[in-house]
Amino acid sequence: MTAPLPLQERTAIVTGASSGIGRAIAQQLGEAGAHVFLAGRTASSMEESKKTIEEAGGQASVVVADVRDVAQVRGLVDSAVSDTGRLDIMVNNAGLSYPASIIDGDPEQWRCMLETNVLALLVGCQAAVKAMRACGAEGQIVNISSVAAQRSNSGVYGSTKHAVNSISSTLRDELEEDTIRVTNVMPGAIATNFARNFDQEFVDTIVKMAGMDVEVKKGERLPPEVLDTLATKMNQLLGDPNDIAKAVLYAVTQPIHVNIADIVVRPPRSMTLPH
Ligand SMILES: NC(=O)c1ccc[n+]([C@@H]2O[C@H](COP(=O)([O-])OP(=O)(O)OC[C@H]3O[C@@H](n4cnc5c(N)ncnc54)[C@H](OP(=O)(O)O)[C@@H]3O)[C@@H](O)[C@H]2O)c1
Repeated sequence: MTAPLPLQERTAIVTGASSGIGRAIAQQLGEAGAHVFLAGRTASSMEESKKTIEEAGGQASVVVADVRDVAQVRGLVDSAVSDTGRLDIMVNNAGLSYPASIIDGDPEQWRCMLETNVLALLVGCQAAVKAMRACGAEGQIVNISSVAAQRSNSGVYGSTKHAVNSISSTLRDELEEDTIRVTNVMPGAIATNFARNFDQEFVDTIVKMAGMDVEVKKGERLPPEVLDTLATKMNQLLGDPNDIAKAVLYAVTQPIHVNIADIVVRPPRSMTLPH
């Protein structure tokens, strides 16, 4: 007889599951037995991950959603609960950076970072707590912050991640009497599509570091083979998204009286990304 998987009969939501860290988390939670709701804007890559999870014997659903819209975040939680009757794990991962100085930055890009990295995460936390309480879950909320929150001068992006750290600590206090734990994860530089909005020069350097002759325009996703090559060849400087996913899996599989509060996962050498 095979042992049950650690997350069998649990329901998990991962925002920003169409790329990078969120995609790796969704796949690992699915392979550990959870029914995973993958949420993001790009359906095709989430459908591919759903197939990978199902081939490994798991269950997955794809929800195309823009987390900047409060109603869509609430709707995402409602659809997971109405399909499976419960919510056990909420990973608030969707996020992005538009590096620029405060003096020259574009307020619309600041709005986008604040709405995606902070507002959507707050709404996700609130909706998840309500759903977890309603079904009596031993719940786990995971917020993806950044090592940028460990520096005081990490720009507007960094300030959104300082906010994430503060939100995670505050929510953890609010939930002391509940069976819901809060984990705050601070990744270092990881090989994902995170650099897509960085300057063209930075994007070109990244592609060159992978030793590949492909043209990637600012705003576009990097080809998967470039990301895989970077995570392997440059592993002293750039982490693999699966390493973050392993840390998340560790946190959400602890008994409910154990709260893995903060986790920093980074490659051995530090690289300060533009902010
Ligand atoms: N990579 C790093 O070096 C690093 C370091 C520290 C922290 N982080 C954090 O890790 C998290 C994941 O980033 P990543 O590195 O995996 O970058 P990524 O590969 O660019 O993935 C970002 C994900 O967020 C989604 N997203 C962005 N805006 C959204 C919106 N309005 N609605 C729905 N989904 C949205 C993207 O979806 P679409 O592609 O479908 O738009 C994508 O799935 C972010 O919170 C980031 O701040 C990353």
